[in-house]
Amino acid sequence: MVIFLSVTVTAVVLETVRPYWLKMILDSVENGNEEIVLKFFILFGISMVISNWINALSYFIGDGVIIPMSRRIRETIFQKVLELDFAYHTEKSTGSLISAFRRGDNAVFSIFDSVFYELFRVLISLIITTVFLYQASAEMAWLLLGVFFINLGLIWWLIKINLKARTEFNASDDVVAGVIADGMINYETVKFFAAEKKERSRLSEKFNDWIKKLWIFSNSFRVMDIAISSSAGSGVMLIIWLAIKKVGTNFGATDLVMIVGFITAFYWKFFNLFFRIRDIAKNMTDLEKYFEILTNETLVKDPKKEVLPKKDLGKIEFENVGFVYPKNKQKIIDRISLVVKPGEKVAFVGRSGAGKTTLVKLLLRFYDVSEGRIKIDGVDIKKMKKASLRSRLGVVPQEPIMFNNTIKFNLTYGKDSASMEEIREAAKKANILEFIEKLTDGWETQVGERGIKLSGGQKQRLAIARALLTDPRILIFDEATSNLDSESEKMIQKALDEIGSKRTLVMVAHRFSTIRDADKIVVLSNGSISEIGKHEELIKKNGLYKKLWTLQSKGKLVESAGEVVR
Ligand SMILES: Nc1ncnc2c1ncn2[C@@H]1O[C@H](COP(=O)(O)OP(=O)(O)OP(=O)(O)O)[C@@H](O)[C@H]1O
Ligand SMILES: [Mg+2]
Repeated sequence: MVIFLSVTVTAVVLETVRPYWLKMILDSVENGNEEIVLKFFILFGISMVISNWINALSYFIGDGVIIPMSRRIRETIFQKVLELDFAYHTEKSTGSLISAFRRGDNAVFSIFDSVFYELFRVLISLIITTVFLYQASAEMAWLLLGVFFINLGLIWWLIKINLKARTEFNASDDVVAGVIADGMINYETVKFFAAEKKERSRLSEKFNDWIKKLWIFSNSFRVMDIAISSSAGSGVMLIIWLAIKKVGTNFGATDLVMIVGFITAFYWKFFNLFFRIRDIAKNMTDLEKYFEILTNETLVKDPKKEVLPKKDLGKIEFENVGFVYPKNKQKIIDRISLVVKPGEKVAFVGRSGAGKTTLVKLLLRFYDVSEGRIKIDGVDIKKMKKASLRSRLGVVPQEPIMFNNTIKFNLTYGKDSASMEEIREAAKKANILEFIEKLTDGWETQVGERGIKLSGGQKQRLAIARALLTDPRILIFDEATSNLDSESEKMIQKALDEIGSKRTLVMVAHRFSTIRDADKIVVLSNGSISEIGKHEELIKKNGLYKKLWTLQSKGKLVESAGEVVR
């Protein structure tokens, strides 16, 4: 920055003093002193040519400052977004967020440009111009400063109006970006219903407001342009008129040339400044929105000093756990108490919406419990850092989603350092090895956005392998509700048997066939435990488990409405 600013000052000084050399040349021509004419001509030439070289150097050094700065800002905000709570991500709109990112990053560059290339330059050249003008006539120097600051005040006032318009336009722009992203993400649903035109009109509707806001925003510029050019133009004319009037006193024609040179050069700079201040104002609102992301507070906090379990056994304890989703009133989990011993296979079953996945989210600390506590190997999970907690848990989510990258990248996501042997081992256990090795591109096969090129069962088995590779003490398997074919089901079952022998296995089960041999089946109903026991025990009781089991063994689905089960 220091080097950059010094070089910039040098460039501006060389550039600004040109009219002075011109005056000196004219003066010496008048006196007929050729030697001095040549001397000032060379100085004039230097200020013409060298100032441009130095200018280029100043831009070069400036890029050396701003490019790494922009990168660091982007990386920091990206990390911050990812670190934010699960709850933040359930509320956000990816499209709007990306649009805020894009605008913010542009603003970083523009503001740097405006402040250091324009604003800074204008201020220096104002100082130089005033100094030279002052020597010619103090009156004119004061007049120049007066014109400058009056116009600055006017700009400030107009910009405030412009800013409000920009903020409103941005909000509308984010809505548009949100609809576009939503359409792109849901392209499949759009196609199911042949709703391409419908999506377009949904976008078109949002554009109505967008256009209205954009007109207001653009017109505020026109008002500014007219107001500032009239006021600054009159000021400059006044100074030049004063200079013309002065010629003849102790003020020569060459002084007039110099002053007109200074003033007209400055006038353009000033105009540039005006446009730049306008830009800065616009960019400030973009930047504000961008940096605002950093002010989001994480609700699920890491403890300052963490407590770690003495031994990693894989014991889980739920103690009177209660939970309400943020902004909701209804208790989704209610007084759940349960102990899962190390190495046990525990299954959670229940109707759709009973709170099974929510329980998994609580275990992972995607949310903090509202009541009670959850302990792993005797330590309250709130006392562990999220990273330490999650490193102990392997998760196969209900709807596994993959990165738009290769199979290998996705499989090794939790452990980049895994050897090929370990990778193959995990894939083998998850019953996906054969499939991968048969692919033309093998491990390097691209899986598409969110893993779209894989089947549901393949994605699930890949997710199992991905979780297994990190060798967690506790494996959580949130089974997909979608029906897998019996072969895939058998494959997953086999994978689970293999995995379960060495670690604690928490299963959320929709297909009861997978949990017949579970050590403990926990039946959830409206967020509470209604029954608990082994399959043989539960089937003898006339409870919810038996109802669900009977329904399923008759080949019916566990209906989401719940009412079907009576
Ligand atoms: N982010 C959220 N904000 C508010 N409510 C939520 C949120 N996520 C889930 N819920 C609600 O919590 C309840 C429990 O959902 P959960 O996903 O735990 O059900 P589940 O037992 O896993 O069901 P399924 O068998 O269909 O997977 C549901 O009523 C659901 O609508
Ligand atoms: Mg679920």
